Amino acid sequence: MTNPSLLILPGDGIGPEVMAEVRRIIGWYGEKRGMHFDVSEDLVGGAAYDAHGTPLTDATMEKAQNVDAVLLGAVGGPKYDVLDFSVKPERGLLRLRKEMDLFANLRPAQCFDALADFSSLKRDVVAGLDIMIVRELTSGIYFGEPRGIIQEGNERVGINTQRYTESEIERVARSAFELARRRGNKVCSMEKANVMESGVLWREVVTKIGETEYPDVELSHMYADAGAMQLCRWPKQFDVIVTDNLFGDLLSDAAAMLTGSLGMLPSASLGAPMANGRPKALYEPVHGSAPDIAGQAKANPIACILSFAMALRYSFDQGAEADRLEAAVETVLADGVRTADLMQNEGETPVSTSGMGDAVLAALDASL
Ligand code: NAD
Ligand code: IPM
Ligand code: MN
Repeated sequence: MTNPSLLILPGDGIGPEVMAEVRRIIGWYGEKRGMHFDVSEDLVGGAAYDAHGTPLTDATMEKAQNVDAVLLGAVGGPKYDVLDFSVKPERGLLRLRKEMDLFANLRPAQCFDALADFSSLKRDVVAGLDIMIVRELTSGIYFGEPRGIIQEGNERVGINTQRYTESEIERVARSAFELARRRGNKVCSMEKANVMESGVLWREVVTKIGETEYPDVELSHMYADAGAMQLCRWPKQFDVIVTDNLFGDLLSDAAAMLTGSLGMLPSASLGAPMANGRPKALYEPVHGSAPDIAGQAKANPIACILSFAMALRYSFDQGAEADRLEAAVETVLADGVRTADLMQNEGETPVSTSGMGDAVLAALDASL
C-alpha cells in the first residue's frame, strides 16, 4: 500500500518556523507509530513570489490537487504589501482554496483549562469552551464580481461584490449540520438578513436544509453583529456556527481570543469527497505570518500542530491519533510550558518555538 501523501507549504514569516515543529511531529508518527507519509514541500506566498514572480505556480497548484492533504504555514508580510493585488502572497492562498474548491472551513475554538485564566475574558465565560465555526471559504465577497478599483468622474471607487448561490449555501450548511450531529447537535447561522439580500437567501436556504434534512438538529439564526457580541458575552451558548466568508474571517479571529491566543487556533478547509471518499483538504493555522515576531523563535507552533491533528482526523481517519496529539498539547499546557504569547506575568520565562515542539514530542513519547 502506498503511504498517504502530504504537501507542505510553509510560506512566509513564522510559517516555516511553526511548520518545522510539525515536521518533527510527522517524523515522530513515522518512527513511533509506524505511520509514514510521503511528504513533499514547496513554496507559497511571498516565498513563491521571490522565487518565481507568482505567489503560487501552476506546478504547485497541480501538486496540491493531487495529494491527500496540504499543510500550510502562513503567507504575507510587509515586504509584499506594495505588490499589485494579482501577485500578493494572500492571492496564492485564495487560489488554493478556490481551485481545490475547499468550501467548508472548520475553525474550532477550544479553551484548554490551563489557559482559562489567560483569556481576556473571565474564566467562567471561557472555561470548557468548545465551539466550531464553519466559515464558507470559496465564495461571497472575497470572490464576487464585479470587483476592482475604477475611476468614476474625478475620484476612484473600490468595488467588491457579495454573492452567494443557493447551492453554495446548501453545501456549507450541510457540512455544519453534519458536524453538529457529531457534537452538541446545535447550529447557529449568522448573516445580516436585515440589510443584505444575500443574507436573506442565506437564512432561507439554511432553514430549508435544516427542516428537510436535519430536523433533529436545533437551528437558530443571529445577525452577525449580534453574534459577535454574543461570542464575547457567553460563547458557551454556541455549538456550531455557520457563516459566510467575510463574517467567518472576523468571527474566528474574535473566537481566537476566547482560547487565549491566535497562536492556538487550527483550521481545516475541506472540499467535496474525492474518489477515495476523503475530502480534498488543506490544513492551516488561523493566524498569519506574524511579521512582528518572525525570525525570533517566539512563535507558538500549537495552532499549526493542532492543524496537523485535524488532518489526522479528517483526511487520514486517525481519530485516536488526533486525540493523542491534542492530549499531548493539553498536557504541555497543564505543565505550564508557555511560548511568549501565552505569558501571563512579568518575569516568567517563555520557551522558544522549538522548545514548545520539544515539550509536545516529550508528551507524545509519554503517551505510549
Ligand atoms: P497575524 O495573525 O500574522 O498576527 C496578529 C498578531 O498575533 C501579531 O501580534 C502576531 O505576533 C500574533 N501571532 C500570530 N500568530 C502567532 C503565533 N503562532 N504565535 C505567537 N503570536 C502570534 O495577523 P496580521 O499581523 O494581521 O497579518 C500579518 C500578515 O499575515 C499579513 O500579510 C496578512 O495578510 C497575513 N495573514 C495570513 C494568513 C494566512 O496565511 N492564513 C492569515 C492571517 C493573516
Ligand atoms: C485567514 C486570512 C486570509 C483570509 C487571508 C490571508 C487571505 O486572514 O485565513 O483568516 O482573509 O481568509
Ligand atoms: Mn483571517
